[in-house]
Amino acid sequence: MSAAHAPVRHEWEGLRLEEVREEHLPEILAIYNHYVVSSTATFHIAELGVDEMRGLVFHADPRCRTFVSLDPATGRVAGYAGISRYSPREAYDATASVHIYLAPDATGKGVGARVLRFVERYAAGQGFHALLALVTAENERSGSLFRRMGYEPAGRLREVGRKFGRLLDVVIFERILAPGAASGAEPEDRP
Ligand SMILES: CC(C)(COP(=O)(O)OP(=O)(O)OC[C@H]1O[C@@H](n2cnc3c(N)ncnc32)[C@H](O)[C@@H]1OP(=O)(O)O)[C@@H](O)C(=O)NCCC(=O)NCCS
Repeated sequence: MSAAHAPVRHEWEGLRLEEVREEHLPEILAIYNHYVVSSTATFHIAELGVDEMRGLVFHADPRCRTFVSLDPATGRVAGYAGISRYSPREAYDATASVHIYLAPDATGKGVGARVLRFVERYAAGQGFHALLALVTAENERSGSLFRRMGYEPAGRLREVGRKFGRLLDVVIFERILAPGAASGAEPEDRP
């Protein structure tokens, strides 16, 4: 795990993606904390600090990475997405959780689908087999994106969250990555 390696850049379907670096953390934090305080997209309730965010986006498992999508005009972070281990137990070795958060002004433009597909290709290239997304049931935008991208609802956890005085359900979405899904457009390995 390192927060200081050289930039790893990818051009992908009109997007400019980079593997997350330390310098991205303040912008990522601003995006995430926006949703923490204003939505049920995440079950964090109190705003995170930079150390907590560092722990969320840099992973001990070297196959698990986070990528930022940069606005080509400004170079600012328009969103980020990545994979983390679903569980540290060995038999879950090929199962990852997917995370994606776009800046509010980057939503509704088809960016989410392209970023997600990039992450899936990356995950397939790392040998992951199953991807899971845990989505708050009332997060229609996210649920709709995952459905459209071929994820299937695999179960509903009832009333597992409480935020803004409401009990919240979580829907587990799952996508099995096809063998060879990484071929062709697989993002390159990092050095
Ligand atoms: C969820 C997210 C990644 C989706 O990316 P996006 O690029 O905005 O996705 P889209 O614009 O393609 O919208 C996805 C779907 O939601 C629909 N949608 C758009 N605005 C909506 C709204 N306000 N309410 C409900 N649905 C909405 C779109 O019509 C689209 O539906 P379709 O799949 O049937 O065409 C992005 O909106 C985001 O980062 N949201 C905030 C953080 C979040 O919820 N992250 C996911 C946590 S699990």
